Amino acid sequence: MPATAPKSFHVKSFGCQMNVYDGERMSELLSAEGMVAAEADQADLVVLNTCHIREKAAEKVYSDIGRLVRRESGRPMIAVAGCVAQAEGEEIPRRAPAVDIVVGPQAYHRLPAMIARGRAIDTDMPAETKFDALPRRRKQGASAFLTVQEGCDKFCTYCVVPYTRGAEVSRPWAALIDEAKALIDAGAREITLLGQNVNAWRGEDEAGRPQGLDGLIRALDRLPGLARIRYTTSHPTDMSDGLIAAHGEVAKLMPYLHLPVQSGSDRILKAMNRSHDTTGYLRLIERVRAARPDIAISGDFITGFPGETEQDFTATLQLVDAVGYAHAFSFKYSARPGTPAAVMTDQVAAEVSDERLQRLQALLTVHSHRFNRGTIGRRTEVLVERDGRRPGQRIGKSPWLQSVVIESAAAIGEIVPVEITSAGPNSVAGLPLATMAAA
Ligand code: SAH
Ligand code: SF4
Ligand code: F3S
Repeated sequence: MPATAPKSFHVKSFGCQMNVYDGERMSELLSAEGMVAAEADQADLVVLNTCHIREKAAEKVYSDIGRLVRRESGRPMIAVAGCVAQAEGEEIPRRAPAVDIVVGPQAYHRLPAMIARGRAIDTDMPAETKFDALPRRRKQGASAFLTVQEGCDKFCTYCVVPYTRGAEVSRPWAALIDEAKALIDAGAREITLLGQNVNAWRGEDEAGRPQGLDGLIRALDRLPGLARIRYTTSHPTDMSDGLIAAHGEVAKLMPYLHLPVQSGSDRILKAMNRSHDTTGYLRLIERVRAARPDIAISGDFITGFPGETEQDFTATLQLVDAVGYAHAFSFKYSARPGTPAAVMTDQVAAEVSDERLQRLQALLTVHSHRFNRGTIGRRTEVLVERDGRRPGQRIGKSPWLQSVVIESAAAIGEIVPVEITSAGPNSVAGLPLATMAAA
């Protein structure tokens, strides 16, 4: 640890969108303390905001620590935050003595005090909420994250999240409306509501009426300055009638739904403790499509869960064909310490999971390419998020969350009417309609 108090910081986030959100809030907190943001090779304090979901993600932190220890500009103060910090706690400085601070995802508002002390471990899940202690949002940019719900009570047998993030907790209505307004004031045109089970959000509105996520979305829809609303990640069993209906009724709610299914085999879903089967999942998709016919469906999949046979895996491929995903994430099963699946006897050989993952990803690519091609010729809108690789190029998102490349001088945060002109599996190109009119 350096002898003097750190003046600059760098936060590196490894995990899911909620982990990225936490990283942003830690940066805002450290800035409010008078520290300045710097690159990882120069900063006096480096916060490694870790993810524990799969072994590879969890191990990454140790190679990063090694790199920081050998850093040319000298070793910084090192803080390990995020889900590895929560899961491994004191084990981290034991394995990597260069680590000064370990702070869990529910305790990072205490980071300034820990920095002042120089060496500290805090993996409490304190009753006082970190959100009350954090400074007002200052994020710039077109699209912003807003965590509305944390934790998980579902206990899928492969998953560490219920242990690293704790029980399901919904943030209160007023705090969320406030934070949304602050984000809009800071330039956000789009807000993505986040939660490990975002559609399990429950609360009461300002009149004391009970509300679900759809109620919150409808309230955000009324905020001037906001153009787009999204939410992720949803659990199939928490998809309420009201939320499904909102997809057909709320103008700012984008036609995109991330609805992980994990497997297409009912036997495996049961072993995973997923509390839904394939029939129920497919019926749910049908109902969502009835409410919003053009909705893009996305999902998560795991290959090689203990006991998965070739027949189970084939059922997953069939489900993929039945749904026609616009986008998906797929992972090779990773046995996580402390989870029930890790001690199941019928673990699948790594080569088998690997080979299935490749076949699954090939099929998912066919589907995403097909979805993107299906949008060619559509007139739609792009929210500009950043500059493209070439001068005069901008990259933004379509309502279906496609990355759209356009030739345009539009500013970040502008919404540009376009026609989709060509499509690849991962992105599409669009022609601004003003350009077309002029041509
Ligand atoms: N709460 C969300 C997702 C949380 S984790 C949900 O239930 O859908 C994101 C994804 O990581 C999961 O959907 C799952 O596909 C994957 N995942 C979680 N644990 C895993 C493990 N042990 N091995 C491989 N993938 C895993
Ligand atoms: Fe993990 Fe399942 Fe909870 Fe998602 S629903 S966070 S996969 S335990
Ligand atoms: Fe990873 Fe924690 Fe998110 S384990 S996926 S960073 S909730």
